[in-house]
Amino acid sequence: MKSLEEKILREGVVLDGDVLKVGSFLNQQIDTDFLFSMGEEIANYYKEDKITKVLTVEASGIAVAVAVAHCIGVPVVFAKKSMTINVHGELYSAKVHSYTHGNDNQFIVPKDYLSSSDKVLIVDDFLANGKAFEGLIDIAGQAGCEVVGCAVAIEKGYQGGGDKLRSKGIRVHSLAIIDKMSPAEIKFRK
Ligand code: G4P
Repeated sequence: MKSLEEKILREGVVLDGDVLKVGSFLNQQIDTDFLFSMGEEIANYYKEDKITKVLTVEASGIAVAVAVAHCIGVPVVFAKKSMTINVHGELYSAKVHSYTHGNDNQFIVPKDYLSSSDKVLIVDDFLANGKAFEGLIDIAGQAGCEVVGCAVAIEKGYQGGGDKLRSKGIRVHSLAIIDKMSPAEIKFRK
């Protein structure tokens, strides 16, 4: 998505520790027109697939997932990373390691919100090592859902998570794939 690549080049900041900061439009302040243009692009890509639910994980995945789900006309389900008082009943869960943060999270989804009749699209804001996607695919599998594919705003291609999913035959649609990144330059996959 050319407009996303241009926005990353204009507004993105590469921080030490290999982190692309896009707080001006995606991760802290959200450009809602732009968010929904990304949602339309992803919804259009999967328009033949009869998706019934979009699945994501809190926190930053929710905005992109809501835009996609709204454009498709289906609900969003998001995994929580901790038990809260309003999570109860039987649960699907998956332990997910984060390389960026160096910690483990438990992804939790109540069984009420996913079933074997669902055709699920998995959406997130960033795809780096792919552990969050793997955890969400695991949860969809526990529920017996069909995983139609994955979609992400920004893939850090050089971290390999996206290509690992593709090599397993999983469809992954990324709006921008970064193949190289430093404070001096950002290079996108053609
Ligand atoms: P992975 O899921 O692809 O394996 O990636 P990883 O665990 O390493 O990433 C951990 C978190 O950091 C995720 O958010 C991911 O979206 C985010 N992230 C990874 N690389 C970057 C980056 O370069 N820039 C930004 N802005 N985020 C990045 P999270 O822990 O789930 O946090 P949040 O969604 O609650 O904010």
